[in-house]
Amino acid sequence: MRWAIAFVLVLSARVARADVVTIGAAADATLYAESGDLANGAGQHLFTGLTADGIERRGVIRFDVASALPAGSAISGVTLELALSRTRIDELEVGVHRVVAPWTEGTADAPDEEGGGALATAGDVTWTYASCPSLTWTPGGDFVATASAATVIARQLGPYTWSGAELTADVQGWLDDPAGNHGWILVATATGTRETKRFDTREHADANARPRLTITFTPPPASGACCADDGACTVVVDPGGACAGTYQGSGTSCATTACAQPTGGCCLPDAAGTCAELTAAACDAQGGQFEGIGAACSSGSCPIVLEPFVDPLPVPVAAVPIDGGASYRIAIRETAQRLHRDLPLTRVWGFDDGTGARFPGPTLEARRGVPLTVEWQNDLRDDTGAPLTTHRLGVDACLAEDAAPRTVIHLHGGHVPAASDGYPESTWLPGESAVYEYPNAQPAATLWYHDHAMGITRLNVVMGLAGFYLIRDDAEDALGLPSGADEIPLAIQDRTFAADGSLVYPAAWQDHVLGDTILVNGVVWPYLAVRRGKYRLRILDGSTSRSYRLALSDGAPFTVIGSDGGLLAAPVTVAAVTLTPGERVDVVVDFAGYASGTEVILRDDDVDVMKFVVGSEPGHTAPLPAALVEVPRLDEAEASMTRDLRLERVSDACAGTRWTIGGLGWDDITGDIPLGSVEVWRFINPTGETHPMHLHLVQMQILDRQASDGAPTPPAPIEAGWKDTVAVAPFEVVRVIARFEDYAGLFPYHCHILEHEDHAMMRQFRTIELAPDGGVPDGGTSDDAAPDAGAGAEPGDDAGCGCRGGGSASAGAAVMLLVLAIRRRR
Ligand code: C2O
Ligand code: CU
Ligand code: CU
Repeated sequence: MRWAIAFVLVLSARVARADVVTIGAAADATLYAESGDLANGAGQHLFTGLTADGIERRGVIRFDVASALPAGSAISGVTLELALSRTRIDELEVGVHRVVAPWTEGTADAPDEEGGGALATAGDVTWTYASCPSLTWTPGGDFVATASAATVIARQLGPYTWSGAELTADVQGWLDDPAGNHGWILVATATGTRETKRFDTREHADANARPRLTITFTPPPASGACCADDGACTVVVDPGGACAGTYQGSGTSCATTACAQPTGGCCLPDAAGTCAELTAAACDAQGGQFEGIGAACSSGSCPIVLEPFVDPLPVPVAAVPIDGGASYRIAIRETAQRLHRDLPLTRVWGFDDGTGARFPGPTLEARRGVPLTVEWQNDLRDDTGAPLTTHRLGVDACLAEDAAPRTVIHLHGGHVPAASDGYPESTWLPGESAVYEYPNAQPAATLWYHDHAMGITRLNVVMGLAGFYLIRDDAEDALGLPSGADEIPLAIQDRTFAADGSLVYPAAWQDHVLGDTILVNGVVWPYLAVRRGKYRLRILDGSTSRSYRLALSDGAPFTVIGSDGGLLAAPVTVAAVTLTPGERVDVVVDFAGYASGTEVILRDDDVDVMKFVVGSEPGHTAPLPAALVEVPRLDEAEASMTRDLRLERVSDACAGTRWTIGGLGWDDITGDIPLGSVEVWRFINPTGETHPMHLHLVQMQILDRQASDGAPTPPAPIEAGWKDTVAVAPFEVVRVIARFEDYAGLFPYHCHILEHEDHAMMRQFRTIELAPDGGVPDGGTSDDAAPDAGAGAEPGDDAGCGCRGGGSASAGAAVMLLVLAIRRRR
């Protein structure tokens, strides 16, 4: 009897002492399989899974278990929680494996969405280095083959958890032997799924989204709770000497102790960008973004948050000709426009055809074979009505000779004589104008016009200088596609606003600038009431840097009928379509099957774009034709020349680094192109980011794409038509073919990330009436990258920790070896 009572007492004492602590990560990073040079130690995100190109990423994460609970504790359960912040649409099983070798987190900080990584710095863990460059490990990490826990990650963003007996055993092991704590690696189990899951790291701005490990345990008898200055609760042994903060006394527990929570700036989600001093939890409860403990609130420190889908989608009106015929006079004018219900008026630059200045500009409606002329005028004025002398946005002196508001308009995708193409150096100052002639001798297509002034194109487009230009023809008319109110162009652009409604854009050049709101046709996150039928949506990515992987929120398929330069041969059904800056896609979305009142969002993985609200009336219900138009294939055998164009970054005295094509600049014109010739251009991308490459004058066809780890593959059906802007993915080689005909002169080609275009990633080609030797040059390869042909074939030429050489050849290096091999074979 006495024994039994004693046993019950011991048991109840142990039960009473069970405790729970939640700790943040001590280190986290991503391993990028394409290159041992890539890392993201200091980034806000970590990745696991396979890219669309089949390149693997793995996340590593470590928690300092030994300082959160006392040695001798018995752990009964653990839960690892990570917040998913970006995904495509597939489910992916992610296993958590115990890492068996030490690794370190460095300071590499990948740009933008971070999927491309950054050049490793000293101490970064990479695919081939446990600590770059001093410590190698098995490529992909040294870890236990069996996962300690696995969880299926769906498309729903937010927290996902891993737990179970094996995971608990890992943590107990680390508590008992802290030197053996090398954390976990996240490995996608379903490797057939080409899907990358992105989670937030300990560096993430939102404290609530950071990784956490919750540990349930029974501490040894003489211990108690410790409140740290940051509000975290851990358990330490008596007399609390190990407590970096306030020891709560023997016998206290984290489960019952409410540690005082420090406050910091909290950005509240409103159109005024309100900042309040709150605790992280209070901030979260109000839907705010906690800026960190002690973070101060200052004016403009918080982004403004606009409620989506409160304004109707505007459809750009057709431009009005001056004589009822085919001549237009369009002035570039400043105007104040409301871009969201809750925003004050925004100063933008628009186009005025005589009916008022608008952003985006009025749509120019053209007919194939019927020329059209536009007198473009720069009529930018200051508030007194005098010609504007200084740009409204900060002009980076590294890129432009002065801050004058120069403009010039280019018809993107148009087959146009050089004199009307919008040559970047032939700009118009306020008060100046030019008459451009557009022959429209090309198939029906969704073109767009936009500014192209040297060094300030990004600024002029951000101010508003863009509009649609639609060419129609008989072949298209015969198809009976949705038209009239059922045909809508959508110009998608991202922008950032200040609380006073003004556009925010950095004065000093940046590699990419992503806006935090999405505009369609000049309105933030609009909605469109649709009938129950088919809609033809001509979608343009008119953003400076942002790419969109567009899908419908319910995952419903839609139909692609056209690309940049015209209709496809046949419709293609897809679940999503990716657009990079400058690209267009012509799609048909069918709302006939939805109940009245259904709301469908057109969204990207990261951001919403707009909303469709389905009404009750029937709309366009005729079926789409099975065949569209003839797309004659350009024959590779006809090509007189293959040009290799390496997309690369070089150092720059003024700006640090800058982008180039083949190491050459705007004024380096290599190799004239005789009119009528067909050429193959090969874009070689040894960098970790996508570059949408655009050629003026021509419409191209994609011959093939070659990822770093594969053989050349023909373009996807939706890319098999006419293209004037072609996305070249990281570590990819893309071959395009085009016929250069009709117009002799100088034409730009460039990356359509406008920040890159303005930063020397733009060159020009010259078409000539006759070849210099009187004949057409015979076949051969011209390497435009003359200064470093065959050399420096390594991704990322800038400063870094030099993690190359030893170790296994990275996939990035492999594609370069392959490129060299191709060169030698010729
Ligand atoms: Cu859309 Cu050279 O430009
Ligand atoms: Cu163009
Ligand atoms: Cu680029």
